[in-house]
Amino acid sequence: MKKITAIYPGTFDPVTNGHIDIIKRASGLFDKVIVTIAINSNKKPLFTKDERIDMLKKSLKSFKNVSVDYFEGLIVNYAKKKNAKVLIRGLRAVSDFEYEFQMSLINRKLASDLTTIFLMPNEKYTYLNSSIVRELASLNGKIDDFIPVYVKQKLIKKLKENKIGKMP
Ligand code: COA
Repeated sequence: MKKITAIYPGTFDPVTNGHIDIIKRASGLFDKVIVTIAINSNKKPLFTKDERIDMLKKSLKSFKNVSVDYFEGLIVNYAKKKNAKVLIRGLRAVSDFEYEFQMSLINRKLASDLTTIFLMPNEKYTYLNSSIVRELASLNGKIDDFIPVYVKQKLIKKLKENKIGKMP
């Protein structure tokens, strides 16, 4: 039978439990899932690419059919190179829809054989995103329910190194 590879691209700055929820669902649906850090030219990530890869790898090591990667360029070209026919995106709320709809249509225009499939995370993660987690952590808010322990340690260390969250 044909094996299906799905790609889950994102900034993952850092990976959250909401992302992991989506990855778990995708891992049960597809033969192979490649979680790949991609470039969103509007964002300036806090973590380096290697740090984000490390956090993803540590957080996803229990999923045997999931691998972690990084690429620069168009997602459609990356998908072609990996022989992937499916692109996974998470839909948390109606507010995600317009942006995701536009991106999936552009990608379909560029590669008609690549299908975007939207998965919904558990409702407890619908309000979650990486910026909120970074902000909460910088203000000493409780983040234990939102990110894995390893990611929490890395985030706290990073914020300290960058002196984020302290008054000048
Ligand atoms: N749980 C928690 N948070 C989630 C989530 C979930 N299930 N799903 C999305 N998010 C959050 C992310 O943490 C992120 O939060 P932030 O904005 O605070 O950082 C936000 O929702 C959306 O980010 P993400 O899913 O990482 O997407 P993105 O918009 O940063 O990046 C790319 C989208 C990287 C996939 C896209 O820009 C891309 O494909 N780039 C390559 C170039 C390309 O081909 N572009 C498209 C054609 S022009």
